[in-house]
Amino acid sequence: MIFTPDNLPSPLSLESLFGRHAPVEVDLGCGKGRFLLAHAAAHPDINLLGSDIQVGRLQKVRTRAERAGLTHIRLLHTDTNYALEYLLPRNSVRAFYLFFPDPWPKRKHHRRRIVQPEFLTLIHRALQPGGAIHIATDHESYFTHIHSVVHDDPRFTRVDPFEPPAEEKTDFEVLFTAKGFRVYRYSCAKKD
Ligand SMILES: C[S@@+](CC[C@H](N)C(=O)[O-])C[C@H]1O[C@@H](n2cnc3c(N)ncnc32)[C@H](O)[C@@H]1O
Repeated sequence: MIFTPDNLPSPLSLESLFGRHAPVEVDLGCGKGRFLLAHAAAHPDINLLGSDIQVGRLQKVRTRAERAGLTHIRLLHTDTNYALEYLLPRNSVRAFYLFFPDPWPKRKHHRRRIVQPEFLTLIHRALQPGGAIHIATDHESYFTHIHSVVHDDPRFTRVDPFEPPAEEKTDFEVLFTAKGFRVYRYSCAKKD
């Protein structure tokens, strides 16, 4: 279930990876997979790809997915930008989820934040027309940054924010909301 790409950058055949043709959704930085597993259980009709750089987390997700018989999940052990730049074919993804990306709160680390204009270009390339990216964070300053990067991009149109049902809330969302933090959400779709 866990796929680690070799060093040769070439786009994946998503149909071969999943063994079937179905809409593809991708959870970037899926962590321990609370959203991925519940979303897959609720949507047997989609191919769901989770990616993360921490293989230990992916191994836990794999164990839970296998126990639950979720055969339409695949896990990608790789950096998000690498996946977007080299592995995901153009116009292939119906939805991206980016939940609670590392906020890098110190100003000198802001350039490490994943949401940048170049990231958006790669997301745009991989999305099908009409496909969307759904972002959530508890970090107000990161949200302001996300809002300014995405809102100014004419290739996307803002849509109603994706609000996951309770069972699909991510591990970090459960943690942060228990502490009383507010969650900021932004969803936008690729223009046709
Ligand atoms: C704060 S956690 C959030 C996890 C999950 N989305 C959630 O909401 O519970 C951020 C996750 O992104 C992963 N991550 C951070 N930088 C990454 C990168 N450049 N590429 C892929 N995954 C990354 C981390 O390993 C971690 O699992």
